[in-house]
Amino acid sequence: MPAALVTGAASGIGRAAAERLIADGYDVLSVDLRDDGPGVAYAADLTTREGNAGAVSAAIDAFGRLDVIVANAGIQHVAPVAEFPEDRWDMIVSLLLTSPFLLAKYAWPALAASGSGRFIVVASVHAQVASPYKAAYVSAKHGVLGLVKTLALEGGEAGITATAVCPGYVRTPLVEAQLPDQARRHGISEDEVLENVILAPHAVKRLIEPDEVAATIAFLAGPNGAAFTGVPVTMDLGWTAR
Ligand SMILES: NC(=O)c1ccc[n+]([C@@H]2O[C@H](COP(=O)([O-])OP(=O)(O)OC[C@H]3O[C@@H](n4cnc5c(N)ncnc54)[C@H](O)[C@@H]3O)[C@@H](O)[C@H]2O)c1
Repeated sequence: MPAALVTGAASGIGRAAAERLIADGYDVLSVDLRDDGPGVAYAADLTTREGNAGAVSAAIDAFGRLDVIVANAGIQHVAPVAEFPEDRWDMIVSLLLTSPFLLAKYAWPALAASGSGRFIVVASVHAQVASPYKAAYVSAKHGVLGLVKTLALEGGEAGITATAVCPGYVRTPLVEAQLPDQARRHGISEDEVLENVILAPHAVKRLIEPDEVAATIAFLAGPNGAAFTGVPVTMDLGWTAR
C-alpha cells in the first residue's frame, strides 16, 4: 500500500486531503500540533527541525515506505509592514517555507526509493500574486514555489515530482476566523465581508471547498498526475486571470 505524510492534517485542507488519500487506499500519517488527524496521527511542531525529522521518521517507522508528502500546514498574520511583528515573520517563514524544505531533505531517500515519489506543497494563489498586509505569507508562499521548481529539477532522474497547489480562498477555519474581525473593522456584516472583501478577487463568487483541493492533491499523487512537476497548479476561480 502506498504511504503518505500530510501536514496540518487536523483541520481544513490537510484533513480533507488525508481523508481523501485514505479513501484512495494510502496509509496516511497525519501530522499536526494536535494528534487527532485521520489515519495514524502524529503530533509535531513543524516550525522546529526536530518536528520535521520526527514526522518523516514516524511515517517510515509506521509504514516502511514513504511515497507522497503533502506539505500543507500553514498560518496567516495580517498587519501592515511597518507594524509586522518580527516573531510572526519568523514563525510563518519557518512553517510555510523551511518546513517543506526540511521534509523534502529528510524524506528524499524514501521518495527516491518509491520510484514515483510525489512532493506536493499546498501553496496559494499568494505564491503568484500579492495582497497588502500579508508580507510574511506572500513572501513565504512565493519562496516555496521556488523550492518546488528546484526539487522538480533535482528529482527528475529519481522519478520524484514536485508541485505547488495554488488555491484561491477555501472554506476553512483559517478564512472563517477572519470574518468577524473584518466585519467589525469595515462596519459591515460577515456576509458582506465574504462577498465584498474576501471574494472580491474571485471571478466566480464562491469559496473553494476543502474537498476540491483534496481531489486535486489526490490527482497529483496518482498515476495521472505524473507529468506535473516544477509547476504551480492554480485553482483560483479566476483570481489570476486579470
Ligand atoms: N483557506 C484558504 O483560503 C487557503 C487558500 C490558499 C492556501 N491555503 C493554504 O492551505 C494550507 C492549509 O490551510 P487551511 O486553510 O486548511 O488552515 P487551517 O487553519 O484549517 O489548518 C491549518 C493546520 O495547520 C496546523 N498547524 C499550524 N501551525 C502548525 C505547526 N507549527 N506545526 C504543525 N501544524 C501546525 C494547524 O493546527 C491546523 O490544523 C495552508 O498552507 C494555507 O496557507 C489556504
